[in-house]
Amino acid sequence: MVNSSAGGPIGVFDSGLGGLTVVQEIWRHLPDEEVVYVGDTARVPYGGRSAEEIRCFNREIIGFLLQQGAKLVVFACNTSSALAFPVMQREFPVPMVEVITPGARAAAAATRNGRIGLLATEATVRSGAYVRAILGELPGAQVTAVACPLLVPLVESGRAGSAEAARAVVEYLEPVREAGADTLVLGCTHYPYLRPHLQEQLERGVALIDPAVETARRVGEVLAAHELRRHGPRRGDRFYTSGDPALFRRLAGELTGRTLPPVERVEFSSPVLGVNAAGAGG
Ligand code: DGL
Repeated sequence: MVNSSAGGPIGVFDSGLGGLTVVQEIWRHLPDEEVVYVGDTARVPYGGRSAEEIRCFNREIIGFLLQQGAKLVVFACNTSSALAFPVMQREFPVPMVEVITPGARAAAAATRNGRIGLLATEATVRSGAYVRAILGELPGAQVTAVACPLLVPLVESGRAGSAEAARAVVEYLEPVREAGADTLVLGCTHYPYLRPHLQEQLERGVALIDPAVETARRVGEVLAAHELRRHGPRRGDRFYTSGDPALFRRLAGELTGRTLPPVERVEFSSPVLGVNAAGAGG
């Protein structure tokens, strides 16, 4: 394994701001650790992209995180976890943690009637990764999976709290409600930032699963297993974006309620392929 220094940071990445929900849980669960974060805002959203494109982007980001001394890499993106994780694990000799297995485990533990709703990106839903992971934990579970293409662009453009976001949530929750799910998995790391809208719409007693919570716990376990837990003073976290650093910092501050250190820009060279070439900006 490379980068096996316990003093190194935990590398965390997402297509944009959503992975900060995982960083927030790492802050809570592993307060002694340092984080180096990449938000690939120039190429967000990932949810309509092909597996080939996502792997290409992930490869560049992980290479960059390793250059920054990351001792472990967290896929704080369900879409990347669904489409690229096993391939990247084979390519890079560093411990890695994804978000789908922890999310599926938490959902299987929470449900009482075996009916689980899933909100996720189109690519995550299409991959079937969550359904497989949930059935692996709870054979016979009924999963109602809904692709929610409007939600990531709303969060990335600072409109998580808008009436437009509230309307989109109502529409996307309809099939989950109809199925009688007692548990809802937020299968995209951006969605916990829509929690107020979700809570307003869900019946009382429906368990809301944010895979970030279990993921942070898993990160702690993997670090401990590799004797990579950090001891000693923190120097601070570092944040990078492939988009506009000032915008990223402002929106990240609004979403996390915490002032980030200055955000730096990182340039990735892979061309943006396919139908999403214009992306959603950020
Ligand atoms: N946060 C990413 C995820 O968890 C969003 C993907 C996207 O950019 O569409 O899937």
